Amino acid sequence: MVFNKTTVEKSDLDYIHKKAKQEFNILSGNSVLFTGANGFLGYYFIKSILAWNNSNPKKKIIVYALDLFPKNVPSWLSQKRDDLKIIKADITKYKPKSGEVFDYIIHAASIASPVFYRQFPVETIYANVLGLINILEYMREKRQVKGLLFFSSSEIYGDPTAENIPTPETYRGNVSCTGPRACYDESKRFGETLCVNFARVYNLPIKIARPFNNYGPGLKITDGRVISDFANDILQNKNISLLSQGSPTRTFCYITDAIIGYIKVLIRGKFAESYNIGVEEPEILMIELANKMRGIAIKQFGYSGKIIMKKSKDKNYLTDSPNRRCPQIIKAKKNLDYKPEVSINEGLTKTLLWYKQSLSLRDKKNYK
Ligand SMILES: NC(=O)c1ccc[n+]([C@@H]2O[C@H](COP(=O)([O-])OP(=O)(O)OC[C@H]3O[C@@H](n4cnc5c(N)ncnc54)[C@H](O)[C@@H]3O)[C@@H](O)[C@H]2O)c1
Repeated sequence: MVFNKTTVEKSDLDYIHKKAKQEFNILSGNSVLFTGANGFLGYYFIKSILAWNNSNPKKKIIVYALDLFPKNVPSWLSQKRDDLKIIKADITKYKPKSGEVFDYIIHAASIASPVFYRQFPVETIYANVLGLINILEYMREKRQVKGLLFFSSSEIYGDPTAENIPTPETYRGNVSCTGPRACYDESKRFGETLCVNFARVYNLPIKIARPFNNYGPGLKITDGRVISDFANDILQNKNISLLSQGSPTRTFCYITDAIIGYIKVLIRGKFAESYNIGVEEPEILMIELANKMRGIAIKQFGYSGKIIMKKSKDKNYLTDSPNRRCPQIIKAKKNLDYKPEVSINEGLTKTLLWYKQSLSLRDKKNYK
């Protein structure tokens, strides 16, 4: 298949529906509040629900897409449809109006990019803690919510010791509570503590996902995460700037496999349980990632840049950044039937082609 923005998205949404069909069937006819709708994960999460509804018009899933929407509501969310409701609000203060009733809640509002959460540490803590408390109080009071998915993070493990790579859910972490990343790591850790205690004390259906480095369509090119940074350099035909010595490692999970994992945690996860969602391999060096993206860009669109080492202007860019990050996903495989399958080469190819056409269409609202 020749990939462009439309075919990438179509094949990705079909893949999500095929692999999470049972879970979408359970969601059908229900309403879902998605907080952080204008973020990276909101893009495919909400698109996959709307595309599902197009094929299943008798039992639609009603999506309430909540975000601060600091700029305009993006064009892909501005469609007039009876199954899509936009809520421009701050989740730390939001109170549902009459008629806004949620069967499921997905709490993704946060600031996920290290570049931005270091600039807005208090807002990051507020979204992860106060925003979550607001939702938990709503659940405790109304009691009709069938499931809450809280987005925690692999960052709750901090910089794991060598014997804890790949990292299982039982690892307690090696985390600074005062460093430049602590606003994110510690508020996710406390978010999990809130979730398990509300679930246990009030018997509420709360589930937790710990995402490990997702990438793909929907990730804003200016987001500051490594794959969007490399793509940004490539698409301007500039050299790829490596802001470390290239030695940290990560595993990267393509967005479709990630979304399927999160839907499975929401529907099949046990109350008060956390699940690693990501891929176990390949665990690659940042220099290898840069080389892979460069190779794909040369083949796909004649890119001619090189890879260069640079120092970030942000003095905290590498402070407390984990050296290695790689999940153990046995729990999700065994208990949720989670099977990520998209290879890194396929995922990066689709991502670069998606960015390339998004840019050439000047469709900047989708990723800026
Ligand atoms: N994408 C990943 O690889 C990854 C990895 C680990 C954890 N996570 C977690 O998953 C969730 C979603 O990640 P993402 O990549 O989509 O994040 P993102 O940063 O792209 O998007 C987050 C969205 O939340 C919104 N937001 C922030 N504060 C808000 C508030 N107070 N009220 C309403 N909206 C608010 C922002 O405007 C933004 O649109 C986050 O909680 C993140 O911490 C993601």
